[in-house]
Amino acid sequence: MNYRLAYAIGFHPWEDLAEHPPFADKLLELIAREEEGEPPYGPALDIGTGSGVWAVELARRGWRVTGVDIVEKALRRAEARAREAAVEVRLIHGDVTDLRSANVGSGYRLLLDTGTFHGLADGQRGAMGREVSAIAAPDATLLVDCFAPRRRGPLPRGVARGGVEDAFPEWSLTEEHLADTDPDPIARLFRFDERFYRLSRNGRAG
Ligand SMILES: C[S@@+](CC[C@H](N)C(=O)[O-])C[C@H]1O[C@@H](n2cnc3c(N)ncnc32)[C@H](O)[C@@H]1O
Repeated sequence: MNYRLAYAIGFHPWEDLAEHPPFADKLLELIAREEEGEPPYGPALDIGTGSGVWAVELARRGWRVTGVDIVEKALRRAEARAREAAVEVRLIHGDVTDLRSANVGSGYRLLLDTGTFHGLADGQRGAMGREVSAIAAPDATLLVDCFAPRRRGPLPRGVARGGVEDAFPEWSLTEEHLADTDPDPIARLFRFDERFYRLSRNGRAG
């Protein structure tokens, strides 16, 4: 998927999922289960943050958030979104398959990916897995939202549960949930069959 072009022409339907309760409520429930005690909850990384929809939400909830993305226009929109919400989000221009070179830092307790990993090529997925493992805290949780694997023209190819596990061999996949996009007609047409996966660095259940 050519995200640079997508943002240039204003095509970013994934942002609408924040206003779609079956999807958003489930994701927020998974996030809430990682929030121990009172905020601030610790460092969180939004991987492929786009225009920062979820980064801003995490910051609102009391996480110390960094968002990384490869498309500068998306990051500019994220900056505006954070400003408007009056929250602080550190935004970094970088590649999720080379997070250490992008200087995102380390020690992240929560890592979130809504829609980036499942669009990467096979070799890139392993690279993202290695990079995420390098910058995550020992007790980190990773939440990943993926389409099921299928050819969909220019849209992300998706990835099966086994593909997620293969890219993150140091992590345990502890949960799988339906990421419900119904009744989105585009999702039906392309059979996204979307899932949230929860992975734990130390095998801890949510
Ligand atoms: C489907 S969008 C999701 C954006 C955001 N997470 C959301 O839910 O609104 C996928 C995002 O991943 C970013 N992306 C894709 N490949 C990337 C890479 N190799 N490094 C950094 N960002 C990447 C795209 O620019 C895009 O913003």
